[in-house]
Amino acid sequence: MKTLILFVALVGYTQALSYSDVLEEEWNRFQLDYTKFYQTEDEALLRRLIFVDNKRRIDKHNRRFMAGKESYEMGVNQFTDLLPKEFQSQMLSSLNITEAEGLIDFRYTAPRDVDPPSSIDWRARGAVTPVMDQGENCGSCWAFATTGTLEGQTFLKTGRLVSLSEQNLIDCSNDAPYYNEGCKGGLELNALMYIMHKGIDTESSYPYRGTQQKCRFNSSNIGASVEAFIGVSGEANLAAATAFHGPVSVRVDSEGMQSYKGGVYNNPNCSDEILDHAMVVVGYGNDKSGGDYWLVKNSWGTTWGENGYIRMSRNRNNQCGIATIAVFPIV
Ligand SMILES: *[C@@H]1O[C@H](CO)[C@@H](O)[C@H](O)[C@H]1NC(C)=O
Ligand SMILES: *[C@@H]1O[C@H](CO)[C@@H](O)[C@H](O)[C@H]1NC(C)=O
Ligand SMILES: *[C@@H]1O[C@H](CO)[C@@H](O)[C@H](O)[C@H]1NC(C)=O
Repeated sequence: MKTLILFVALVGYTQALSYSDVLEEEWNRFQLDYTKFYQTEDEALLRRLIFVDNKRRIDKHNRRFMAGKESYEMGVNQFTDLLPKEFQSQMLSSLNITEAEGLIDFRYTAPRDVDPPSSIDWRARGAVTPVMDQGENCGSCWAFATTGTLEGQTFLKTGRLVSLSEQNLIDCSNDAPYYNEGCKGGLELNALMYIMHKGIDTESSYPYRGTQQKCRFNSSNIGASVEAFIGVSGEANLAAATAFHGPVSVRVDSEGMQSYKGGVYNNPNCSDEILDHAMVVVGYGNDKSGGDYWLVKNSWGTTWGENGYIRMSRNRNNQCGIATIAVFPIV
């Protein structure tokens, strides 16, 4: 609303407002909205160029969206001053599928005699904690995906929703045999194995810092435990696991998600093997215009996507690898 009034006011005042004037205005507002401060003038100049480039791409995509040629909308968010490559190196965590497969002992298969419901949303049933922000410069998505599935599975067992400590995983699961790398990346499977051996503290006792620090695990503050973990692959199995067991941690190719704002994300170009980002499937459904979707909780704050969530294409050939290597714990 504020945007619209400002825009109308500007147009009224100058009559002929060019696209570059609009971009300048957007750039100024972006810096205010996301409290951006750049160290040097050169840095500010560079960020402005990147912002303008990203904004043009967003506007171009949204013209297709308005014309009904795309099922999702893009928008400015806290990442709009980052090059896609920078975004990738700061936020993401790559995974070697062969290596990850080797950690899975148990695999889920959907029951033959019961069909999962046509839609489900675990948020409505109280199984999902609020969206958090992993912060720029910390590739800790793997820790958030791990706590996300475990919080949900624990809630379904105990009836209590307790937020769990990603920082515990970032600080403490780096040595053998877990081999995570804190803010430089990690594996949900290794994090679950760590929790299976040690437990995990509550978020309130061990809050998020967004940098790797000395391990401060305290067994008096354990909020959940893990008995085993189950690998899931294939979209039919993922739907059944989500419906019958609760939130499931997934890996995806997130290239192209930097500017996602809303709608059913559909990127036929993305890979089902280069899985650089971990998130949590907390439901699925069908959208009238966008088709079948997975409801996915992210850890990029609530200013990204649909209040921190993304709806990803479902039943489109495992798009972006969402059902390549998913996992949930038995608690
Ligand atoms: C993935 O892991 C396997 C087994 O550890 C290894 O042989 C392979 O080289 C790795 N691939 C990449 C791309 O790192
Ligand atoms: C562990 O947590 C308990 C309960 O919060 C506290 O009393 C104790 O001092 C903590 N231990 C350490 C080593 O911090
Ligand atoms: C997919 O790739 C084509 C060809 O490279 C490109 O024109 C198109 O914009 C890409 N689509 C998305 C959603 O990235």
